[in-house]
Amino acid sequence: MKDFATFVPKPTPKVAHGRGSWITDQYGNRVIDGSGGPAVYCLGHGDPRINEAIMAQLNQIAQGYRRFYESEPLHELEDLIRERCGGGLTEIMFNTGGSEAVETCLKVALQYQQAIGQTGRTRFISRMRSYHGNTLGALSVSGYPLRRGRFEDSLLLVSFVSPANEYRLPDGVSQDQLVEFLANELEAEILKLGEENVCAFIMEPVVGAAGCVVPPPAGYARAMQAVCQKYGVLLISDEVMSGSGRTGTWRALEPDGVVPDIMSVAKGLGGGYLPLSATIYQQKIGEVLLEKDGGLQTGHTFTAHTAGCAAALKVQQIIHEENLLEHVQTKGAWLGQSLKDALGDHPNVGDVRGRGFFWGIELVEDKATKQPFTRELQIAERLGQTLREEGLLLYPVSGFGTEQAGDGVIIAPAYNAEDEVLEQIVGRIELALNRLFS
Ligand SMILES: Cc1ncc(COP(=O)(O)O)c(C=O)c1O
Repeated sequence: MKDFATFVPKPTPKVAHGRGSWITDQYGNRVIDGSGGPAVYCLGHGDPRINEAIMAQLNQIAQGYRRFYESEPLHELEDLIRERCGGGLTEIMFNTGGSEAVETCLKVALQYQQAIGQTGRTRFISRMRSYHGNTLGALSVSGYPLRRGRFEDSLLLVSFVSPANEYRLPDGVSQDQLVEFLANELEAEILKLGEENVCAFIMEPVVGAAGCVVPPPAGYARAMQAVCQKYGVLLISDEVMSGSGRTGTWRALEPDGVVPDIMSVAKGLGGGYLPLSATIYQQKIGEVLLEKDGGLQTGHTFTAHTAGCAAALKVQQIIHEENLLEHVQTKGAWLGQSLKDALGDHPNVGDVRGRGFFWGIELVEDKATKQPFTRELQIAERLGQTLREEGLLLYPVSGFGTEQAGDGVIIAPAYNAEDEVLEQIVGRIELALNRLFS
């Protein structure tokens, strides 16, 4: 192994331009964008169709402020999302980022419980090794010690249950027992807090940065929903990273056969062309809020930003017209298998896991014991830098394992990435790993 004591991160270059899956920096270095930044750029960069849609809207007006105006892109996008979601998920509030979307999920849940007379239901339950955003409410429900650290004393009181990770099972629990164990644990936590005090349970269908991509065990989401329903606890699905097609279906919980009460989407919604996120919730919740309070009592200056909606509408239309979700499913299976074939035997690759175009590689010091590297070694950051030197940008993640250790990278290509790009992603990861650990 190399001398890991001498790692000095290189300065971040200025970005120059991007086309499709390729980005060029100020020095003319051209790299493949293999993770869409943090799983955002679902149609790659510089798509003229989206740029034109944005310009057309800007030439009319950038934003019609929500209290004064509705807009055509807003209505069209709402209709499109309702159609994609189904299952009674008809109510939508657009904001700009994932954290705002999650804050709004929490507020929808709180307002609904109050409105139906469940006034004691103010507590949230979340999971360890989860990330839901950086604003204080969203950070409060994030089981991510590295990001909570400094702010711990000012956060909401939230309970955390175990992550659903088949690679890292709770002590004494076998793979077969995992779902039952986790459902029992959630039930015990609700009873401990008093069911009359619990507002909602929040989870990512496929954990992103806080777990290095962790798909749930079969039957997990259904089991958790059953516990929630038994005790009148709302289920919030945070699909900021895994939703809007990233995992091959528009709703990330679709393959698990679960429709949540409330959900968030963000990154792949507008594909990063303009910032846009959405909180989507059940019609029955919307009806109660309307009847009791005249509607949802939250909102921001840039809620339903018109140009943002126009950008996202075009992104979603292209995904639909080009059948890209089906493509993500079939090519995603190929990508996962290729990653496993190429990297599975590497002594420092602990696990390769994912769904659709959302894959994570967890690195370990010892494959047999799954012992992570100590955080001080900054393995994820080193791998990110080595990959960049090999002409590939991936999203390094850390601090998701035991006791804040844990290193990995996330692969999240554009839904329309060419086959050659996907092949190069796999090849360049193999090269970089061999270089780093040679
Ligand atoms: C699952 C999840 N929720 C919420 C957020 C917060 O989104 P944002 O960074 O846009 O505020 C993120 C960001 O990575 C995320 O992955």
